[in-house]
Amino acid sequence: MIKPIKKSWAEPYKIKMVELLKMTTARQRKKALEEAGYNTFLLRSEEVYIDLLTDSGTSAMSDHQWAGMMLGDEAYAGSRNFYHLEEVVKDIYGYKYLIPTHQGRGAENILSKILIKKGDIIPGNMYFTTTRLHQELAGGKFEDIIIDEAHDPENEFPFKGNVDLNKLEKLIKKYGAKKIPYVSMATSVNMAGGQPISMKNLKELRAVTKKHGIRVIHDMTRVAENAHFIQQREKGYQTKSIKEIVKEINSYTDGATMSAKKDALVNIGGFLAINDWDVFEEARNMVVVYEGLHTYGGLAGRDMEAMAIGIGESVNDDHMHARVGQVVYLGEKMMEFGIPIVKPVGGHGIFVDAKKFLPHIPQHQFPAQTLAAEVYLDSGVRTMERGVVSAGRKANGENYFPKLELVRFTIPRRVYTQAHMDVIAESTARVFERRHHIKGMKMIYEPKYLRFFQARFEKLK
Ligand code: F0G
Repeated sequence: MIKPIKKSWAEPYKIKMVELLKMTTARQRKKALEEAGYNTFLLRSEEVYIDLLTDSGTSAMSDHQWAGMMLGDEAYAGSRNFYHLEEVVKDIYGYKYLIPTHQGRGAENILSKILIKKGDIIPGNMYFTTTRLHQELAGGKFEDIIIDEAHDPENEFPFKGNVDLNKLEKLIKKYGAKKIPYVSMATSVNMAGGQPISMKNLKELRAVTKKHGIRVIHDMTRVAENAHFIQQREKGYQTKSIKEIVKEINSYTDGATMSAKKDALVNIGGFLAINDWDVFEEARNMVVVYEGLHTYGGLAGRDMEAMAIGIGESVNDDHMHARVGQVVYLGEKMMEFGIPIVKPVGGHGIFVDAKKFLPHIPQHQFPAQTLAAEVYLDSGVRTMERGVVSAGRKANGENYFPKLELVRFTIPRRVYTQAHMDVIAESTARVFERRHHIKGMKMIYEPKYLRFFQARFEKLK
C-alpha cells in the first residue's frame, strides 16, 4: 500500500529582510555567562545565538506595519494614529474606551491604583510577575484561583487556564464581595505554560461575578493565542474565526490590560481598555502623571500605528495557525528526545519541567535557573527561568516556592525557522544526556523587586 502523502503547512509570509546572527564558541559562552552571574537576563544580546528569552517585543513586523511607521503623526496631542488605534480596539477587541500606555505594566499600574484599596483581595487564574506586584503595591493581595490541573505539568487537560469557581466562591464568602474589586483573568496563562481558558469557563465566571457585582479584568496579552486553542478544542467553535472568538472572550469582561508586545506584533506598546466611563475618566487623568498625554501614553505616533495594524494581523487565522504550529513542532521534537515538558503545549513557548529534568537539584538550589544556564552554555540558545526565582518573596519576606519550576523556551513571532527549532531541541537533548553531572547554584545578589531580572548566581562546587 502507498502511504498517503503528509500535508504540511508553512508560514503565511515570505522573508524580505534578514538579521544576521553572531555565532559564539563554547569558551566565549562560558565567559559571558560568568560575567552575567548565570542569569540569562544579564547576557548581552550579541552573545546569544537563538534568543528565546521572551516573545515580548521580539516579533518581526510586517511590511504593512513598517509602512505604517512612516505614517506616524508625532503631534503631542490628538495624533491620528491614536484615533486609528482607538477604532481598532473597539472594532476587533470590543472595548469602549482606550488609554494607551508604554507597555502592559503601565496599564497594570494605572488600573491597580484606581481599583484596589488597601486590604483588598484580587483573585486570579495564576499570578503574573508584574501584574501581581502592581496589585500588591496598591495594597491588595493576590489569591490564586486557577484549577489544580494547572500546577501539574503532566496533566493534559485542554483548558488548564480555567478558573476554579469553587475557589472563587470560597474567597467571596470569606472576604465578602466588597473586598474584591475585580477578578484578574488572563487568557493564555503565561506562568502555567501558555495554557488557555475555555469559553464555557469564562461564561460561568461572568455569571458568578455578575451575581456578586464583581468586575472581570482581562489580561489580554495573548488573547488571540487563547482563541486559537478554543477554535481547536472547544465544541461549537471549529467554524468560528479567531476574530469572532476574541471578541466573544472580551464580551464577558469589563476591561483589559494589554501588553501589545506579544499578540499584537509590535516591539513596544500596550494599553488599558475599559467599558466603564468612570474608571476611564480616572485613568485618563492618571495616565498623564505616569505615562504621557492620554492620546499617546508614552508611545510615538508611529508605535500606535504599527500596533493598530498588528492587532489586525494577530487575529488572522492563518497567522495564528503557523504561530502556534511552530511552537507545537518544537514541543513534539523535545518529547521525541524524552525531555519533560509542560503538556499540552501552550501558545507562546515550550516550558521544560526543571524539577523532572534535574531531580537531584532541590528547589532552593534553583534547578530552572541552572538549566537555562546549561542550555546557553551548550549552544548559545537563551531561555528564561520561570520558577522559584521568578516567584520572588511574599510581603513577609519568605520565598514563594511555586509548584512549577520551569524553563521557558519562548518563541518570538515570525522570527525563527523550523531549522532553528531543530537546533534548539537538539541542544536541549544534549544537556538532557549529561543532566546527572549538573550541579545547582546559589544566589549571591538579590534585588528587591522582580528579582529574576537582575539576580546573580554562583555555581555550587
Ligand atoms: N501580562 C502578561 C501575561 C505578560 O506576559 C506580561 C509580560 C505582562 C502582563 C507585562 O507586560 O512587559 O509589556 O509590561 N510578559 C513578558 C514575558 C515580560 O516575557 O512574559 P509588559
